[in-house]
Amino acid sequence: MGRSVYINIKELIQVRAPQPEPLRGPQMDDVPRIKDAFLIIENQVVVDFGSMQNLSLQEFNSNEIIDVRGKYILPAFCDAHTHTVFATSREEEFVDKIMGLSYQEIAEKGGGILNSAKKISEISEDELFSKAYHRLTKQINLGLGAIEIKSGYGLSLEEELKMLRVIKKLKAAVDIPIKSTFLGLHAIPLAYKNNKASFVKEVVESWLPKVLQEGLADYVDIFCETNYFDCNDLIQLSNAIKNTPVKLKVHVNQFTTFGGVSEAVNQNALTVDHLEELNETDLLSLAKSNTIATLLPSCSFYLGIPFAPAKTLLNNGVAIALSSDYNPGSSPSYNLFFVWALACVKMKLTPEQAFNALTINAAHAMELGKSHGSIFKGYQGKLILTNEIPSFAYIPYAYGENHVDKILN
Ligand code: NIG
Ligand code: FE
Repeated sequence: MGRSVYINIKELIQVRAPQPEPLRGPQMDDVPRIKDAFLIIENQVVVDFGSMQNLSLQEFNSNEIIDVRGKYILPAFCDAHTHTVFATSREEEFVDKIMGLSYQEIAEKGGGILNSAKKISEISEDELFSKAYHRLTKQINLGLGAIEIKSGYGLSLEEELKMLRVIKKLKAAVDIPIKSTFLGLHAIPLAYKNNKASFVKEVVESWLPKVLQEGLADYVDIFCETNYFDCNDLIQLSNAIKNTPVKLKVHVNQFTTFGGVSEAVNQNALTVDHLEELNETDLLSLAKSNTIATLLPSCSFYLGIPFAPAKTLLNNGVAIALSSDYNPGSSPSYNLFFVWALACVKMKLTPEQAFNALTINAAHAMELGKSHGSIFKGYQGKLILTNEIPSFAYIPYAYGENHVDKILN
């Protein structure tokens, strides 16, 4: 509260009005910045900024002035794809993986999503909330300014509602925006092993209306993948949300291509997420659409699968966002600085392209483009004050180093 005047900021990064649309192609190359800058925050609102030359320090009390020489200030990251609400970590699968088992093989022997679902059913709602809250606090302390969180480890109506209620309580408990996604079609429960169609029918016709009625979801999602759910299931889910305020997100092309991307685009999905596998048809359908491609390099790193072809998508005019996919099975890290480094090293994005994908475009991937992702007069979100660093590119370059001095706001 009160007023804080940050002076001698080495560079104030991503200073621009909220962007009405996600950035595409060459727009991604530039991150506007002010060198040797000041920034004034009053009652948690950015009220002014500019070059130090234009600041007259006499107007302020000395106890309001904070000298941050050598440090950068950035808008907080946006994370548009997470599974932050889960019961327990799954490091036993990590060891299986080291011993040579694939994600699919681990899932087949009772690990994977079914493992997390069992753990959810064994934990109380209060305990689930307190674990998720603890994680979310750590995420915010590492530069997170807005987040999407999915259900999906319930696999029953009761447990899915429990997860969604936890997300609703998180919304009230922290001071960053949270978007809630109902991922009812995440895996096929054992009881429906040979009867996927009736499970889909149950989720779409019985669970979804309850979720919508209780106002527990901003989005719906589906794991469109071989051995999980197919295009037909996607269409059913999409039809069920027509004439509701809820929009569609799709996990697709993580392991296989089968037309899921084109179908998601046909269904007007807000985002398609993963895309580690992508063919020409997928690429062309995305290039002609407004659907945002949310790419998740931590998942590729952890599972040892290909990285999504970010550069090709970008060069073809597709709007790309970057997110963590934080979850216990395929991306046990919420660190968006690491996502930034991976996007540069493994996807060959420039530090600027990756940063735009982590801020402005990730904000758009959860319809927060009007309020988050950049620093402007009236910005009420969080900001990252870095440690002393030599340059902007040093941040993803010196991966693994702690770059955060303090979270502002
Ligand atoms: O985004 N792909 C499906 N869902 C998660 C992983 C879930 C899990 O293994 O717990 C993902 O990678
Ligand atoms: Fe995911």
